[in-house]
Amino acid sequence: MAEILEIWGGRPLYGTVEIPSAKNSVLPLLAASVLCREKVCLKKVPHLSDVEVCLALMRSLGMDVRYGDTGVVIQPTANVEDASLQTELMQKMRASVLFLAPVLARCGYVEASLPGGCRLGKRPIDIHLDGLEHMGANVRWHGERLCLRAPRGLMGTKYTLRYPSVGATETLLLASVCAKGDTVLHGAACEPEIVDLANFLNQCGGKITGAGTETISVQGVSRLSGGAYTPIPDRIVGATWACAAAAAGGCVTLEGAQPEMFAPVLDALEQAGCRIWRRKNQVKIERRKELVGIGERKTAVYPGFPTDAAPLLAAALLGASGESCIRDTIFTNRFACADGFLAMGANVHRIGSDLRILPGGPLHGTTVAAQDLRGGAALVIAALAANGKTKIEDSFYIQRGYADLPQQLRRLGVKIQVKKT
Ligand code: EPU
Repeated sequence: MAEILEIWGGRPLYGTVEIPSAKNSVLPLLAASVLCREKVCLKKVPHLSDVEVCLALMRSLGMDVRYGDTGVVIQPTANVEDASLQTELMQKMRASVLFLAPVLARCGYVEASLPGGCRLGKRPIDIHLDGLEHMGANVRWHGERLCLRAPRGLMGTKYTLRYPSVGATETLLLASVCAKGDTVLHGAACEPEIVDLANFLNQCGGKITGAGTETISVQGVSRLSGGAYTPIPDRIVGATWACAAAAAGGCVTLEGAQPEMFAPVLDALEQAGCRIWRRKNQVKIERRKELVGIGERKTAVYPGFPTDAAPLLAAALLGASGESCIRDTIFTNRFACADGFLAMGANVHRIGSDLRILPGGPLHGTTVAAQDLRGGAALVIAALAANGKTKIEDSFYIQRGYADLPQQLRRLGVKIQVKKT
């Protein structure tokens, strides 16, 4: 059943939100647990549709997985029963691609279709496949189906990624952790979620060094155990609440947030006129006066300004008194939410991968549609600042990355309704 969010904007936000485990850590950790020979418990996992899709993929492999209030429990499986990943599940999200390497490593074979995911522009998987080929996998296409074989197991290698792709770095960590021999990855992604994956694999007996730098070394081990693990807090959820407070005004505390993980977003909001208090596991953000434009900002790989936060920051700056221009250098279609911003009366111009934000009149509520996860969250942020009621259609995109958003907003004083259609 489709859901529409109805948000009455124009009220400042006051209160505290808990930052859950990072979606983009949890998904690779679930893929990693396919390799584990003992029970795995992932804690503080938020209820997200992307997590449900991963669990459905794992069940289709014959794994016993449970998703309770405290997290996800995965029982070890003696044999992965079916190395054919269902097309319908693969196409529901990009992170489904992360199951290729662990299933290949366990079965010597995996068959799947291309992954789906937000339509942010072209999202090929050539680096994932090229890296796996370097490790000895045989890659073949049968129509739309992709077949990977490594009957004698994956082999350690030296490999340079042509671009520091987050997903491809994760695939190659998952492929190399139990491969025969040593692997050195050059040009690896440095995002905190990569470090989290390496920490989890090492806790299970993996031998990975250098995660968080451009060169990662992996000594293949024969077996991974399991154990309990709490993933890192979600830096993009942290950025979302910070931008929401900036847009609506008020004062919001982000409990459990690690400010250094989304420092460029907090710096931009501070430059725009917010007051920010950074503590070890907490951030407080306050906005009392009108925001000002921040000039130009470009997204970049970590530790640069995160692409996922580009539409969120844009939404916060729609009501600013000066000009801002945000350029996404990672994806070509990051600002699909600009259609919704325009419908709400914002003065924005989308030129290629740039979004130019000029001072305009006050935003007003209207009907808009989410077109992707972060763009959908950006429409929520804009709705919080708009006068009157905004209806956000296709809110299933938002549920991929934000658990129980209406309830969280209500706790901050927002009037919001969820209509089922
Ligand atoms: N790319 C290639 N070939 C590849 C892989 C990537 O050309 O084989 C290109 C992509 O087309 C893109 C760029 O490299 O232009 C970056 O892609 P990357 O692989 O780094 O991203 P991803 O692994 O697909 C993850 C997050 C995204 C986040 C990006 C960038 C997950 C599940 N997804 O995607 O998060 O935007 O890294 O930081 O970890 C989200 O949470 O809403 C989201 C989209």
